[in-house]
Amino acid sequence: MTTPFPVAGRAADRAARKPHLAVVGATGAVGSVLLGLLSERADVWGEIRLLASSRSAGRKLTVRGEEVEVLALGEEAFDGIDVAVFDVPDEVAAQWAPIATAKGAVVVDNSAAFRLDADVPLVVPEVNGHAARVRPRGIVANPNCTTLSMIVALGALHAEYGLSELVVSSYQAVSGAGKDGVDTLRSQLAAVSGTELGTTPGDVRRAMGDTLGPFPAPVALNVVPWAGSLKEDGWSSEELKVRDESRKILGLPGLRVSATCVRVPVITTHSLTVHARFENEVTVAGAHEILASAPGVVVCDDPAQGEFPTPADVVGTDPTWVGRVRRSLDDPRALELFVCGDNLRKGAALNAVQIAEVVAAEMAG
Ligand SMILES: NC(=O)c1ccc[n+]([C@@H]2O[C@H](COP(=O)([O-])OP(=O)(O)OC[C@H]3O[C@@H](n4cnc5c(N)ncnc54)[C@H](OP(=O)(O)O)[C@@H]3O)[C@@H](O)[C@H]2O)c1
Repeated sequence: MTTPFPVAGRAADRAARKPHLAVVGATGAVGSVLLGLLSERADVWGEIRLLASSRSAGRKLTVRGEEVEVLALGEEAFDGIDVAVFDVPDEVAAQWAPIATAKGAVVVDNSAAFRLDADVPLVVPEVNGHAARVRPRGIVANPNCTTLSMIVALGALHAEYGLSELVVSSYQAVSGAGKDGVDTLRSQLAAVSGTELGTTPGDVRRAMGDTLGPFPAPVALNVVPWAGSLKEDGWSSEELKVRDESRKILGLPGLRVSATCVRVPVITTHSLTVHARFENEVTVAGAHEILASAPGVVVCDDPAQGEFPTPADVVGTDPTWVGRVRRSLDDPRALELFVCGDNLRKGAALNAVQIAEVVAAEMAG
């Protein structure tokens, strides 16, 4: 059952026209990519309204080839809006998504505010698209970018082999931490450019001075085994998200998942190594066949020819790229994979747009 529209006559009105869309957080790292996607994809929208903080009000951004003025987030900004995609920090989404739904909009939220709420579906259209139709709170949540970067490929393998365990390590791009993350890496790269670094302890950190930004250690010329905030027993919030969200999307509440999340000096596109164990025996040829025919997945796996996905090749593309597919030497039920996905496209904006389009199609009847 979908949420009844609180405004009388709204459903009939919606069916007679294209739905109106609000992009909340239009000026951010995810919001900017989302505007590009709206300009590229089939245009199913009536008005597209751009919202951000009062700091950005009055700025003009281009969408569908037209300049649109950014409005400050406020209650009246949702008047007449049918679908609102939220690309804002958790606390902003937690406060404003219920206001948007009370005004009659369906919210597609990219933040972590509602992902584990039992009354909010967590949706990846290629894996559990049906779940978007049941939204008791009028909200559909978009998974975190690390989970999204692997879950389309894993969903396809799970459908055939039955997933029982995941051990993953991520290599996460700085844009996963938003505009601030990108600005930080750029300023760190400028600070270390031309200097002889990486030979004595602390020299990289000293050269960068006070430019750590959202990261706990220098990320330029470095690898940082941390993403998110500290949770119980030494786990990071990002690692728990990978576990909890993979379980919810796949409908496997008992799935064993261990994740180690690592930040690397890449601007955009997350990579992951995945050890996936299944209920049934696997073959590399079988996995290749499943992945090659899975919507939204590209297999790039010929190490003899130097072919495997890397963030530099994958950035700006929509699919999940999979390479280095091997059967575990010690376990005929386990596969080893290397996966890359653009964290701002499928990892955030694209998945949200796909969900919003499903809702728009539903409204069109
Ligand atoms: N980056 C990723 O790879 C990724 C992937 C999946 C999910 N997400 C999630 O998506 C959301 C946005 O992330 P991002 O990386 O795009 O962050 P970002 O680059 O920091 O952008 C944040 C956006 O939120 C707006 N905003 C901040 N405070 C606001 C307020 N009080 N009222 C209204 N608007 C406000 C900002 O507007 P101003 O420009 O006016 O400040 C900006 O448009 C976050 O919840 C994040 O966790 C990000």
